[in-house]
Amino acid sequence: MTFEEARAKCEKFNQEQLLKYYGELNDKEKEALLAQIEETDFGVIERAAHQAGKGKITPIKVLTAKDIADNRAKYEETGLEAIRQGKVAAVLLAGGMGTRLGSDKPKGCFNMGVTRELFIFECLINNLMDVVRKADKYIHLFVMTSDKNHEATMEFFKGHEFFGYKGEYVHFFKQEMAPATDMQGKILLEEKGRLATSPNGNGGWFSSLYHSGLEMCIREEGIEWLNVFAVDNVLQRMADPVFVGSVIDGGFTSGSKVIKKAARDEKVGVICLEDGRPSIVEYYELTDELMNEKFPDGSYAYDYGVILNYLFKVEELEKIIDNPLPLHIVDKKIPCIDEKGNPVAPTEPNGHKYETLILDMIHMMKDNLPFEVVREHEFAPVKNKEGIDSVVSARELLQKNGVKL
Ligand code: UTP
Repeated sequence: MTFEEARAKCEKFNQEQLLKYYGELNDKEKEALLAQIEETDFGVIERAAHQAGKGKITPIKVLTAKDIADNRAKYEETGLEAIRQGKVAAVLLAGGMGTRLGSDKPKGCFNMGVTRELFIFECLINNLMDVVRKADKYIHLFVMTSDKNHEATMEFFKGHEFFGYKGEYVHFFKQEMAPATDMQGKILLEEKGRLATSPNGNGGWFSSLYHSGLEMCIREEGIEWLNVFAVDNVLQRMADPVFVGSVIDGGFTSGSKVIKKAARDEKVGVICLEDGRPSIVEYYELTDELMNEKFPDGSYAYDYGVILNYLFKVEELEKIIDNPLPLHIVDKKIPCIDEKGNPVAPTEPNGHKYETLILDMIHMMKDNLPFEVVREHEFAPVKNKEGIDSVVSARELLQKNGVKL
C-alpha cells in the first residue's frame, strides 16, 4: 500500500492520527506501518457500534448429571469408539492475553505448582492423556495462539517435550488481530510506527484453523468432531468420551458442558434458547426477571452456565465458516503512546478491544446438548491472581481432585 492509499483509508475511517509520526520513521518502519494499515480491518469499530439485540429467550433442556449417570456406560462406549476411529480432535484456545493474571508470558506457561513445577499447559495435557490411555489412541490437539504469543507457546511446548504427549499430534495455528482503540473509537498507536492491536477474540477459531492450512489435516485424518476448550480451566476434561457419546447418541450436532449456577448472579453465560435456537446469554445481559424465573416445579428456568467447553460437528461448522459473528466491545488496559509520543502503561482500562466470541457460534447451530458436569471436578478457572476464579482457588480445587502441587 502506498502512503496516499494509506491516507485515504485512514481518512475514510476517521483514523488520520495513525499517520501523525510517519515523517519521523525510517524506510523500514514506514513500510511496516503501511503494511499494517493495509491488513488491519478498520471496519470492526463501526460494526461493533451497530449490534442487534437479543431475540426471545426461553429455557433449553439440559442433560443433567443424574441423566448422565443413568446412561454413563452407553455414552462412554459410543464416545470411545468415535475417538478410536480418529473422529474426535481437541482445540485449545490459547490466543488470549490473560491480562487479569498479569503475566507477560502465555497463560498456559503459568506454574500452578507449589513444591514442583506444574504448568497450566501441563495440567491440560495430563487430563487429555487420561482419555488417550483409556481409548488407547492419540487425539489430535490444535492449539490457537496469536501474534503476541505464538513463538513463546510453541517454544514452551517443545522445550518441555510436549509434556509427554506425541509432538506430531500437536498443531499450532494463529488467530487474527483487531485494532485497539481509545474510548472514543480512535485506533491507538503502540509505537510511532505501529498500531496497537490485540487478538480478535475466540470466535474466529474455526476460520483461523481452516485458513491456516490445517483443514487438510482434518480432512485427511477424517476428523468429524472438534472439542474446543479454554486454556485457563485446569480441571478441564477434554475429548471426554461420555460427553462425546451423549452428543452422538442424542443425534445432536453440538454440545456444551455446563455447570449448575452457584448463585443467581454468578458471572457465567447462561444456556438457553433464543428464538427457538440454542443460545447463550452473557451474565451482564441477563435480566433480573430471567435470572429468577422458575418452572412450575419450583426449579430455576435458567440455571446452567457454560464453562467454555464445546463440541461441534465439523460438517456444521463448515456451513457457517463465513457467517459474521457479533462484535463485543471490551474495556482493557492498552499500552500505547500519548499525544506527545511518550509511552503509556495504563493502570486502568483506557480503551476498547473488539472481539468475537465462541459462545455466539452456539446460536448458529441448529441444536445443542447442554451436558451438566460437576463443578468441583471440572471447573477451576484461573482468571485472576487472587480471589474468585484465581490461582489460589484453582490450586485448592486441583488438590481436592488429588493433583499433587
Ligand atoms: P478470556 O475471555 O478469559 O480472555 O479468554 P483472556 O484474554 O485470556 O484473559 P483476560 O480477559 O485478558 O484476563 C477465554 C479463553 O479464550 C481464549 C483465551 O486464551 C482463553 O482460553 N482467547 C481469548 C483466545 O484464544 N483469543 C482471544 O482473542 C481471546
